[in-house]
Parts: sequence; structure tokens; C-alpha cells
Amino acid sequence: MTTDPPVVEFDHLSPRYAADPHEVNRSLRARCPVAWTEAHDGFWVTSAYAETFAAGRDAATFSSRKGRHGGLDHTGVVIPAEPTLGLLPVEVDPPELRAYRRVMNPAFTPKAVAELVPDFERLAAWCVDRVIETGEIDFVEDLASPVPAMVTLLIVGLPLEDWERYARAFHGLVAHAPGTPGHDEALALIHAIAAAVGDEIADRRENPRDDLLTLLTQADIDGRGLTDDEVASIVTTTLGGGIDTTTALIASALVHLDQHPELRARLADDETYMSAFCEEMLRYTSPVQGFARTVTADTELGGCPLRRGDRIFLSWAAANHDPEVFERPEEVVPDRSPNRHTGFGVGQHRCIGANLARAEFAVVVREVLRRMPDYRLADGAERYSNIGTVNGWHRLPARFTPGRPVGSRS
Ligand code: HEM
Repeated sequence: MTTDPPVVEFDHLSPRYAADPHEVNRSLRARCPVAWTEAHDGFWVTSAYAETFAAGRDAATFSSRKGRHGGLDHTGVVIPAEPTLGLLPVEVDPPELRAYRRVMNPAFTPKAVAELVPDFERLAAWCVDRVIETGEIDFVEDLASPVPAMVTLLIVGLPLEDWERYARAFHGLVAHAPGTPGHDEALALIHAIAAAVGDEIADRRENPRDDLLTLLTQADIDGRGLTDDEVASIVTTTLGGGIDTTTALIASALVHLDQHPELRARLADDETYMSAFCEEMLRYTSPVQGFARTVTADTELGGCPLRRGDRIFLSWAAANHDPEVFERPEEVVPDRSPNRHTGFGVGQHRCIGANLARAEFAVVVREVLRRMPDYRLADGAERYSNIGTVNGWHRLPARFTPGRPVGSRS
């Protein structure tokens, strides 16, 4: 049975949301599992696990597409719509989606990731070596941003020495709200990066290597190869997906460990505990707060009448704090089990980089705990003023007892 849709004041990009997303989501959930907001030309927002999960799994009714399809304007997976970037595979639906995922998968299997862990460890050690003698670090700038940037470049097959440029672009895109100068500057950088990626695509068509660019340029989808535009789009999504999300996850964990030093020794030595802690930080902080869909047919969700063409924001963050599913949702329970969080999304678009993000998290957090076991956060921590896309940090300065560089451990 449907009722009059509840209208709420919700804007995931607002300062109010950034100040206390848990409170905003809690009060939404207390009113209704799905509500309508007039922000950004109007959209639905989910606040309960069951509705978020159901919509995430129903790609036929809740489409990720961008462009005009079936007489409808689909505007992709972000609100407000981002007009310039067409992101594959995140902005197509099954069955097309499955073909792209099949091509990408070999770069992200548990085995492929495990083989690269020694490289991740070397990269994390290199970052820590650069600051270890000073006793001071900005966890974001010096570690949580560079490691995921370099790891993502490694997987894709782009030059590692360019990591700062990539990190600045993808960090800037989500740290600054659409329409602000910081966001526009980041978009310009991303378009410039696309030109460099174009050269690499041409190279890999001639000179295959062991990287994602090679998988994409050599791919066969139903008897055809991928065009340069398709390859460039998948690379852009992978860079965007890999760079700032993992940064946010690691930074939030280091904030939690500052306030809970009693967890540090156990995490440093216990793999199982580290894995559970990673899942709990994914649940608790939801580094990606939510993604949008376009409704393709009149339907009902959580008692609300949704119309064909409506937009809806699937809030992973709200689902992750639903007390119907998670006991004591507002608490970080480091070894929470079970923990069926939606931090990597739900359904066929579920994050392809999940194994990779988990491996990076464990490597970086362990490196910190082993080499700066007594770190304390210093003044100057700064969160994003807009966390609606990525719940991240600009800066996270800390102090620790200085140590010695370890150099290359290879
Ligand atoms: C903590 C880290 C990460 C989080 C929280 C995260 C979150 C997500 C979420 C929620 C989605 C679902 C999108 C949707 O439903 O529309 C997604 C998709 C995706 N992620 Fe991640 N991600 C992370 C790390 C990574 C990494 C390391 C990579 C690769 C280097 C990556 C690449 C992608 C790609 C390519 C997609 C699109 C998949 C598709 O549309 O089928 N992500 N991610």
C-alpha cells in the first residue's frame, strides 16, 4: 500500500549533512524508509537497509545509465548529474555491464591482488620512510592518499611517478562540491589526464603488458574489441573508484585508533581482527555514502509511489546504520560479526575493487602500527566540507616517536 510521500529536507552535499550524517540519516529513518527531497531538482532518498538493498539489486527498475534511453533521460549515478564524464562500467546496466566486468575481473581477483601485496608493502614503506625521521606525518597527504593512488596506477598500468597529479585530481573531484572552483579545477585535471591515458591506450594495443590497460585493449566482447573511448572511460572510473575512497577508509580508521589506542597492538599482529576491523570501518564510515539511480517504471518502495523518470539516492551510509540489521549501529565494534554492510554497494555494480581496497587497508594500517605505534593526532585535522560522495579527510596531521627508514625490503 502506498501513502503520501514524506517530504524531507535532505541534501547529501550540504554542510548540515557533513556535520553529522548519522544524525541526519537517523532522523530520516525515524520518519520513513524512503522520502522525497526537493534538493537538486528533487529526488528520493533511502534510509533503511531493506529498501536500499532491494533497489540496489533491481537494476531493471533502478537504472545506473547515463544518456537518453527508452525515452527517458538517465543521468547516471551522481546527484546532481555530472554532465561531462561518462563512466563505464558504473553508468550502464546489465547485461552490458556484465560484459565489461568480465573483461576487468582478472585484474581484481583475490589471487591477482595477493600477488601484488609485496608491492603495496614496498609502497607503504617508501611513504613512511619519507617522514619517519621527522616524527611528524600528515596521514592523508603522506600516506593514505599516495598509497592508493600508486596502487591504482600500478593495477591500471600507468606511470607510478605521476601519482601526485592523479591523487590531486581525484581527491579534488570529491573533496569539493560540484560547481565550486576546486571541483572545476579537478575536472580540468581529469580531462588532461585523459589525454595521457590516450597515449597509453595506443601503446598497449601494440605492446601488451600485464595490466588492466592491456586487458581492456586486447578484450573481445561479443566479437568486437573495446573502442579507445570505452577503454578511457573504464580507466577513469577505476582511477576515481580506487584513489580517494580507500584514502577515506584508511584515514577514518587512523582517527578511530587515535581515540582507541588499546586496539593497536592486537590489530598489528592479528590478520583476522584486522579484516573484521576493516569491514567495520567500511560499515561505520561508509567511505562512499551513496549512489543514485533513475527509476525506469512506476513502482513502489517503502510504501512510496515512485514514478518513471524519478531519481533516487541509495544511501549505503544510512543502510549501514539501520538498527534493524546492526545491533548498536552507532558504535564501532571492531570484530562485529556478521557484518553485511553495504559499504561496497549492492547488486551487480558492487565494487570490483573490494579485495584490493581491503588489502591496501591492511598493509597501510599495519605499517603505521608497526612503525609509529605511539602516534597521536595533532591539531589541524580537517574533514571534507562536502562528504556526500566520499566521506573523506583533507588533512590528518600526527606526531610520533621518530624512527629509522627501512629502505627497500625487496
Ligand atoms: C574503500 C574503498 C572503496 C569503496 C568504499 C568503494 C565503493 C564502491 C561502491 C559503493 C561501488 C558501487 C557503485 C554503484 O553501485 O553504482 C563501487 C563500484 C566500483 N568501484 Fe569501488 N570502492 C572502493 C575501492 C575501489 C578500488 C580500490 C577500485 C579499483 C582500483 C574501485 C573501483 C570500482 C569500480 C570500477 C566500480 C564500478 C563497478 C561497476 O559499476 O560494476 N573501487 N565502489
